[in-house]
Amino acid sequence: MLRTDHFIRFERVSSVRETHRGIEADVHGERFRVEVCRPDVVRLRMSRGGAFDDQPTYAVCVDPLAADVAWLAEPGEQVWRVVTDELTVSVWLDPFRVDVHRADGSAVLETAADEEGRYWTYATLNDSWTTRRVCGPDDAFFGLGEKGGRLDRRGRDFTMWNTDVLNEHATAEFRAGLEQADPRSDMSSTEFDPYYVNIPFLYHQSNPSAAMGGSFVDNGYRGYYELSREADFGIAFAGGQWTEYVFAGPAMPSVLGAYTWLTGRASMPPLWALGYHQCRWQAYSQDDLVALGDRLRAEGFPCDALWLDIDYMDGYRVFTWDEKLFPDPSAMLVRLRDKGFKVVTIVDPGVKHDPGYEVYDDGLARDVFCRTEGGDTYIGQVWPGNTAFPDFATPEAREWWGTLNAAHVESGLAGIWNDMNEPATGEIPPGAMRFDHGRESHERYHNQYALLMAMGTHEGLNRARPGEPTFILSRAGFAGIQRYAANWMGDNQARWDHLWLSVPMACGFGLSGQPFVGADIGGFQGNSNPELFARWMQAGTLTPFCRNHSETGNIDQYPWSFGPEVLDIAREAVRLRYRLMPYIHAAFEHAVATGEPVQRPLVLDHQDDPAAVAADDEYLFGRDLLVAPVYEPGVTSRDVYLPRGHWYDWHSGELHEGGQTITAAAPLDRIPIFARAGARIPLWREAPASTADADLSDVEWREFAEVES
Ligand code: GLC
Repeated sequence: MLRTDHFIRFERVSSVRETHRGIEADVHGERFRVEVCRPDVVRLRMSRGGAFDDQPTYAVCVDPLAADVAWLAEPGEQVWRVVTDELTVSVWLDPFRVDVHRADGSAVLETAADEEGRYWTYATLNDSWTTRRVCGPDDAFFGLGEKGGRLDRRGRDFTMWNTDVLNEHATAEFRAGLEQADPRSDMSSTEFDPYYVNIPFLYHQSNPSAAMGGSFVDNGYRGYYELSREADFGIAFAGGQWTEYVFAGPAMPSVLGAYTWLTGRASMPPLWALGYHQCRWQAYSQDDLVALGDRLRAEGFPCDALWLDIDYMDGYRVFTWDEKLFPDPSAMLVRLRDKGFKVVTIVDPGVKHDPGYEVYDDGLARDVFCRTEGGDTYIGQVWPGNTAFPDFATPEAREWWGTLNAAHVESGLAGIWNDMNEPATGEIPPGAMRFDHGRESHERYHNQYALLMAMGTHEGLNRARPGEPTFILSRAGFAGIQRYAANWMGDNQARWDHLWLSVPMACGFGLSGQPFVGADIGGFQGNSNPELFARWMQAGTLTPFCRNHSETGNIDQYPWSFGPEVLDIAREAVRLRYRLMPYIHAAFEHAVATGEPVQRPLVLDHQDDPAAVAADDEYLFGRDLLVAPVYEPGVTSRDVYLPRGHWYDWHSGELHEGGQTITAAAPLDRIPIFARAGARIPLWREAPASTADADLSDVEWREFAEVES
């Protein structure tokens, strides 16, 4: 958190006037605007040097002021108000303070005062700014994208700075910057912060009313959310302007709907991307990959995609193939396609600094690499050693990158995997990497780097295959990443607590507008074990993105690596996913239409039920199936909270009344699943080997009778 001792508060408004969209106040030589976007959404923004930054980031993808909205301004001696059908924004003049209330009088946000009664509406120090808001002792917070720990963010402080979690240099810099009193020695902790994806979108639930409001701060600089205090909470950014969208709610889905109206929604992925993905960091040859595909088919293990990690390249040079390992990639891709497999390759942003290497030379000639302040090409350290970084803040670099990707997939590749795009720069700190030909600071674009990279990749793939859905998987991201890419949760560990961690983390992603998420099944770092792998397959096959991935040097983590019993369990799990494919597909259609997640935390539909709000170790997969994974070794049952309504045990058919915690049987071959009474679940009659030849409309229905309450 920023220390605020020396911050300068904006304390008095000198004049106010009406604008075509709200009001504008003069305060401390700056202009503060309230602008009505929709009846339930307002934008608050403060100028710097008298000017507004009209595109602080690439997160917002609509003109938020385009629609006609009814509103009125109410001038006053002490307070000016902007009133819509759903919201009232009050701007107090002396001292300066801003409150937002719903039409029923409940608070969406209220400025907090300190012990001396001084309000913290806006305070600055050099380029940083901060604001402080009121919260109650039982209030809850959700959102912020990819965060560790519990889904309710209350009680902790968070930093927004895309970070390669396993890179101790990046994390050391982060710690030194923050002067943390208690630096964690264990970077793989479930409480580690920040992660790869940071989304400055926060829900605030005011209890006991349970009303949920939202705030999106459109700012890509390093940010801080201080949610650990009792009576107030703080939001601070190390640069950029205060540009904030405030969402009335009070229902969580309507806050999410408004946020994804602003920042966009995922588009429908290709069907194969919803299948099982087999990945490993391993130096496969093209024959190895074909043999892997054959083994999956021989084991009767449904699978749609095989992945190639960094070793397929020639010396980690992006957009090349190692010719010894892959003498004929196109022929390999045809062989695999005939067996129903797609192939995805990794593409990192770092371009090897290697005069004579075509991509490097071309990037240099086109002036599309990031520069330093002095005009050098910025150099960082990634897998190939010294690397240059495309300057994705410029349209030329994005287009160049898109064209390279388009040429790369011409071989027959189906999708692109973007890694190290925080950007991760190894031992060399990223700060000297500047954007727009050296004109723009690193801080402004760091958190947007992956978003811009995905934007360029997406546009390139679209140009290459017009009308076809694209598939990009990204490690890092920012608000809006859902428009272009899915996210996986980076380098997790083969540990039970990391299996648990993946559930609130996926749900946090979903509440932050990103529905297409998944963790490395089995755990990426460290050796998995039979029981952990079986439990992780059961859970991971019931998450939006379903990929088994493991680090080089680990013991094997293929479905058959842990013996026949585990193989049977894993096969059953993945077959269930494939039988559920029409249902999963429908859940994605719902996400595309509404912005709501595929992996839904219970709070989303039950924000007025405190037990459901707290139940973050189970989730709804789609709207009708409740999944309660097992996170401990050696157990054969677990407690499951069933929210209101009635629920059928998926395995036994037993009916349970909701609003209670039950003990569900969970022998090793069973993951607790419950279907909502009244649900009709479309299923494929049998699990196919892949989605390649399957027909989405040829389904049978499993019906779960409604129960009168
Ligand atoms: C990073 C990725 C991981 C990948 C590895 C090698 O650690 O997060 O998934 O396997 O790099 O490319």
